[in-house]
Amino acid sequence: MSDRINLRARLLSLDKDLEGKIVLEYYEDGFVVCEEGLIVEVLSADDYFAKMPSGVSYEDLRPHLLVPGFIDNHVHMPQQDIIAGRSGELLDWLDRHAFPAELRYADHDFARIKAETFINELFSAGTTCAQVFSTVHRHACESLFVAASAKKMCLVAGKVMMDRNAPVDLLQNAADCREDTESLIEEWHGRGRLRYALTPRFAVTSSEEQLSYCSDLLSHHSDLYVQTHISENLEEIDAVRSLFPQQKDYLEVYEQAGLATTKSTFAHGIHLSKDERQRLFLAGSKIAFCPSSNLFLGSGLLDIESIPDANLSIGSDVGGGTGLSMLHTCAEGFKVAHLAGYDWHPFEALWSITKGNADALGLGNSIGQLRPGFFADMVLLDLDQPRALKNRLEHCENLPDELFALMFLGDDRSIARTYVAGEVVFDRMELS
Ligand code: GUN
Ligand code: ZN
Repeated sequence: MSDRINLRARLLSLDKDLEGKIVLEYYEDGFVVCEEGLIVEVLSADDYFAKMPSGVSYEDLRPHLLVPGFIDNHVHMPQQDIIAGRSGELLDWLDRHAFPAELRYADHDFARIKAETFINELFSAGTTCAQVFSTVHRHACESLFVAASAKKMCLVAGKVMMDRNAPVDLLQNAADCREDTESLIEEWHGRGRLRYALTPRFAVTSSEEQLSYCSDLLSHHSDLYVQTHISENLEEIDAVRSLFPQQKDYLEVYEQAGLATTKSTFAHGIHLSKDERQRLFLAGSKIAFCPSSNLFLGSGLLDIESIPDANLSIGSDVGGGTGLSMLHTCAEGFKVAHLAGYDWHPFEALWSITKGNADALGLGNSIGQLRPGFFADMVLLDLDQPRALKNRLEHCENLPDELFALMFLGDDRSIARTYVAGEVVFDRMELS
């Protein structure tokens, strides 16, 4: 049996030209043809019918809108159940909510079940690729890779590394951390669509020794990703200053360990100095803009206009962020931009959660667009759901306004179906 699928829908996919201007690919009535997990053709219905022998069957998904699957470049798997944990700012929230949640992953069965749930929750939010923090436990990270690979999902993930300033059961000595990290890299990095990210949580919870071990690993595996946090909160920055008095600023702590690479994502970066931003841009590292989390934890407002496209990515940062929806993450991004006095265009926002995040992960030649040769990672959006969105759309006159309303008013009911490598991994239409 051929695994060719022909889908008819409204289609939208975004790219940018060399000057950074949005290039829109939009079909009011179009076809995506997929084979063996890949997109092989994207074309208008007229062109499709002109080319195809009559009688070839297709699935008619109109009037739904088919777009590339969303990509979340910064999210914490073990924090899926602690969203909206009431607390003070970052360090208090870590103590009250994040660390207790992560301690529960010491249990192997719990970690396995939660890893599967997490992957399914991503799919039901329309997210088909993510860069994920697991916990310090090797088995939890392993469960995450197993769950993602069972669905042929593109996933970048790593075991969190901490050796101080956290509950003792979340700390690891150097030898254990080394053994666990190396065995995870060995087993999972580059296997199918999986990639490993070195994951020192942040400079507050990693000693200089732990950071320099990361640098050793990078010298042996130069293609590893790196994910961590930087300059999210003023108290955090003070703590880093006193833990690393010899470094001139927060970024230098990571630079000294060779962790500012083109494959590094630094979450937040709200309070970086101009000089730090400049150095980070020169290194080709990415900042993950996490507006939902930044508002929820009262961390501050990232000035996204000051960040070149090439260095910007975006993440839900669940559980500091208040949900896995990348559409809602964009809505929170609009609020942050608005407070800074500028208008974040909905095409820019949709680009950032698709092609922009794909580029930030160095995967922009295989995911993030509806394009021949790309993985058929796609999300089908039902803009008649929920009712508030349907009502609003009756008064929208153009595509940007429609997307803007979708980002604010859409919810899980708007995600009709999610495809990963051409397979349906979530289907609300089947549920209803
Ligand atoms: N900084 C260090 N750890 C975390 C975390 O889990 N969430 C957020 N938002 N910031 C962090
Ligand atoms: Zn985070």
